[in-house]
Amino acid sequence: MNTDLKNSNGKIRMWFAAIIALILFWNGGSWAADIDNGKRIYAKHCQNCHGAHGQGQLPGVPDFSRGESLMQPDSRLVEVLRNGKGMMPAFRAQLQNRELLDVIAYLRTLRR
Ligand code: HEC
Repeated sequence: MNTDLKNSNGKIRMWFAAIIALILFWNGGSWAADIDNGKRIYAKHCQNCHGAHGQGQLPGVPDFSRGESLMQPDSRLVEVLRNGKGMMPAFRAQLQNRELLDVIAYLRTLRR
């Protein structure tokens, strides 16, 4: 009786560890943003207006090197980029949500 209980506990623990390992694996594979890809996208689609270091090339453009406009959740920034804002064009036709999340992760590295 006692040993049975120990055995099943051990099995549960093993399954638990396996499930945690799987979650971590999935997490790394599909949720983590790719900052290098974000950098490429930024150079191609954003740099003209936002500058190589995110300082903004025109009046009214936020300065990412000072963290301006970045105190918002990723989901909110994705919406803004999909739909455009003021002088900024909408990107939903050119960029997937996945790519927008990559470029947002890159924006967050520009803060000094
Ligand atoms: C044609 C110039 C232009 C391009 C290209 C451009 N932006 Fe912008 N961006 C702006 C301007 C202007 C604003 C300020 C909009 C406002 O507040 O009215 C802005 C604002 C933003 C903001 C702040 C949004 C907010 O909620 O206040 C983010 C984030 C941003 N841009 C990211 C990007 C990214 C990422 C790209 C490339 C995928 C990009 N921008 C391309 C001009 C541009």
